[in-house]
Amino acid sequence: MSDETSPRELFESARKAMARAHAPYSKFPVGVALRADDGNVYLGANVENLSFPQGWCAEPTAIGAMVMGGGRKIVELAVIAEKLALCSPCGGCRQKIAEFASADTRVYLCDDAGVQKTVTMAELLPYAFDTDVIG
Ligand code: THU
Repeated sequence: MSDETSPRELFESARKAMARAHAPYSKFPVGVALRADDGNVYLGANVENLSFPQGWCAEPTAIGAMVMGGGRKIVELAVIAEKLALCSPCGGCRQKIAEFASADTRVYLCDDAGVQKTVTMAELLPYAFDTDVIG
């Protein structure tokens, strides 16, 4: 996929990803689609576990797919949960996204009709943990 990917296309991809969620316990499927610096769109859904803390969110699924597919930077990302009018990434996922994003990376918060709100990473995670002392 090219740089021309529209928020609408990313929303539709996130909705398809949500359909693959493994969420038998919460019954709260979440889908994520992100476009990476390699031009590809990577998908993720939440994957729950009977041992509840072992489950994980849709965002790390998509980030793992991106890293293994060769992408290294998130250009834009859409998130959707069918049971929420506006699904916003949880706190832990904001930190995970930030690892591969920039302050101006766009995040599309969606419902079943499409993108309802567009925010930047700086808005989602103000005063983010960031340092060059480590590593
Ligand atoms: N969930 C996500 O996939 N992403 C988020 O940002 C928030 C929560 C999932 C985790 C769990 O499987 C379900 O939603 C209910 O919390």
